[in-house]
This record gives sequence, structure tokens and C-alpha cells, in this order.
Amino acid sequence: MERTSIRLGGVALNSTVMNASGPHSAEKGEIYELSARHAGAIVFKSCNRAGLAAPDNLKNRGVDHFATIARELDPRGKIIVASVVGLSDNEIVEVAVTLDRAGVKIIELNLADDYVQNSVAPFASVDRLKALVGRVRGEVQAALAVKVPPRLALEPRSVADLFKMLRVAIVVCANDLPKDLVVDLATGTAQGARRTLSQVHAFYQVSEGLLDVVAVGGINGGRDAYIAHLTGARAVQVGSALIKEGAGALGRIDRELDTLLAEQGKASVGEIVGRVAFAG
Ligand SMILES: Cc1cc2nc3c(=O)[nH]c(=O)nc-3n(C[C@H](O)[C@H](O)[C@H](O)COP(=O)(O)O)c2cc1C
Repeated sequence: MERTSIRLGGVALNSTVMNASGPHSAEKGEIYELSARHAGAIVFKSCNRAGLAAPDNLKNRGVDHFATIARELDPRGKIIVASVVGLSDNEIVEVAVTLDRAGVKIIELNLADDYVQNSVAPFASVDRLKALVGRVRGEVQAALAVKVPPRLALEPRSVADLFKMLRVAIVVCANDLPKDLVVDLATGTAQGARRTLSQVHAFYQVSEGLLDVVAVGGINGGRDAYIAHLTGARAVQVGSALIKEGAGALGRIDRELDTLLAEQGKASVGEIVGRVAFAG
């Protein structure tokens, strides 16, 4: 839908709504179903070089499986976001390069998972993060995204500044809004004093328009997406709702977001990104 289209990391997307890496995005059939039923970008499940049988949340068939699917979908104009994990810098770089050569438009480094954190320790220091992400940046053409852990040992500002310097275009952040948050969509106003509302909001505030923020977590409907956009997200990723509802969840959330935007007289979702105001 036109109202929900946006540019993310310089890539034009038909919708700000996409699946989160993992649910419904590991097997060829699942990916093709998502691709057929949703006009926006499709995110692959995280993959490593050879595939994994464990841990359960990272079971995957290995990078060649995903590269083959990307080679089929890319010529059809589908925007693919491919997610990368690995146990070493070398493995992460190799997997990212393989996916880049297969035509994916955005490469998402999944640095949020314990599997990566406990081996590569990307957030041990800013220098450590720079060494890993800088290497990947130097070797791939695609726009680069980094999924950061919800509990980040480093300051958002220092991570954001590094990403800007390295030309990382996108940071995927936790949409960890307070459960009792009250937002009036008509005015874009959150109840209470001015404060940082979520990791998405924290990164948006230090992004200076040079880093696009994607929200993941708790996006189950158009209203969740609308509020994530108000707090700074340029796109949203849907996990649990996909598991519960199947591939139709993405289109439903896109339509609900479109309706809310129309009700508020917005011609484009870009008009609301980061526009949250505070009352109280
Ligand atoms: C079954 C399952 C598998 C997942 N696999 C991955 C994965 O491979 N890579 C990744 O970055 N996140 C993975 N995640 C995390 C999701 O991408 C997302 O961050 C999380 O589910 C929060 O979003 P939600 O509240 O919409 O579910 C997985 C989540 C679930 C439930």
C-alpha cells in the first residue's frame, strides 16, 4: 500500500511491515508463501555456513539453502533481507558475502543471539564491534543492518556513532515499550513526562537521520506498528503473530496500519516516524 511504503537503508520497500527473522522463514515453502502473500520485504531465518540442528531457535539448513532461494526471488523484484550468524568473524563474513553475491538487498547481522554473543562477543567493546562489523562492511555491497541485543552492554550513542562511521544503514532494536504506555494516535502524544520509551526510541534519538531503526517485538497489529513508528521505527518486524496466524499476519498488519494512517490524515508513514510527543 502506498501509504505504508518507505525507504529503509536506501532500499525502497512496498511496506514498512516485514516478518522477523526466524518464524515462518526457514524453509523454502514458508518463504515462498510469505513472498506471495506480502508485497513488502521478506526476512530470512538466521543462517550460518553449514547449518545448525541446535540450538532450537537457530535450526537452519545453511547459507547455500538461503542463497539459492535469494537467487530465485531477487530477479522477481522481491526485496530480501538475509540474516547472518556465526561462531567466528571469518564465518560471519563468509556467510554475509555468500548472501550478498546471491542478490539480497539488506544483510542483517544477528548479533542479538546468545549463540553469537557467547562466541564472537561483538559488544565486549566498541573496538571489538568495529573490528567485526567493519570487516563485513568492507566485503559486502548490500545495505547493512545489525540486530542488537535488548540488553546492550554499550551505550546506544557509542554504538550508533560507530554504525554511522562504518556506513551501517539500519539498526534492528527491541520494541520494549512500557506495558502501561498510553498513546493518543490523533495527536501522537504519549502520556507522561518526556522520556526514552524503548530501545527503538533510544536509537532513534541518537540516529541524527543517518541510521534507520527497525522495531522488533510485540508487533501484533496496526496500532502496535503505528506506535513503533511514532517512537522512531522506519520499519517493523513481526514474529509471534506470524506463528499464531500464519503468513496472512503481515498483510493484515499492513492494512491496519494503512487504515490508521488514513484516519489520521497521513499521506505517508514517513510523516509519523519519530514524531511522538509527550503530555504530562
Ligand atoms: C521460533 C522463533 C525463532 C526465531 N529465530 C530467530 C532467528 O533465526 N534469528 C533472529 O534474529 N531472531 C529469531 N527470533 C526472534 C524474532 O526475530 C523476534 O526478535 C522475536 O520473536 C520478537 O518478536 P515478536 O514479539 O514479534 O515475537 C526467533 C523467534 C522465535 C519465536
